[in-house]
Amino acid sequence: MKKLLVTGSSGLIGSEVCLYFAHQGWAIHGIDNNQRAIFFGPQGDTRWNQKRLASELKGFVHHEIDIRDRTAILDLIDSLRPDAIVHTAAQPSHDLAASIPFDDFETNAVGTLNLLEATRQFVPDAPFVHMSTNKVYGDAPNEIPMVELATRWDYADSAY
Ligand SMILES: NC(=O)c1ccc[n+]([C@@H]2O[C@H](COP(=O)([O-])OP(=O)(O)OC[C@H]3O[C@@H](n4cnc5c(N)ncnc54)[C@H](O)[C@@H]3O)[C@@H](O)[C@H]2O)c1
Repeated sequence: MKKLLVTGSSGLIGSEVCLYFAHQGWAIHGIDNNQRAIFFGPQGDTRWNQKRLASELKGFVHHEIDIRDRTAILDLIDSLRPDAIVHTAAQPSHDLAASIPFDDFETNAVGTLNLLEATRQFVPDAPFVHMSTNKVYGDAPNEIPMVELATRWDYADSAY
């Protein structure tokens, strides 16, 4: 059975990734430390979603790891050797980022680098999917005409 490692598994996107791939027959390992409750307070708590995955997904394994913990990330990926990784653990608020710049950068940039380096060391052929954010493009892409092709969306104007 193929193993998928999902970071931010208790979050909005991560939890749905877990459900989708579990139903495709993958063994799911999630990383989340409920950091969202630190970022956003009690209303950001994601333990309920962690419990939902544990009850709905047979064999779901939760790893209580902070992605900023480089040693823990290296150890987990070394021991687990996942077939693919979907990285959704993040501080997702642009407004909040301005008030907690170090926490934001350490999770979004350094945490991502920890995962990339562990992947390079132990499972360099595993696909690594990083959610990132559409905010890097501003609003302009919403005004560019697109066409739907068989496998992807593309720009209607080849000049782009
Ligand atoms: N939600 C959207 O519509 C959307 C759209 C585009 C891109 N994205 C991007 O996708 C990613 C996930 O978004 P989301 O909406 O699922 O966010 P979310 O806040 O719902 O989930 C993120 C999860 O990561 C966990 N987490 C945060 N920091 C952590 C750390 N240091 N170690 C371990 N776990 C940690 C949180 O506890 C939370 O459960 C973000 O990068 C976001 O920018 C989201």
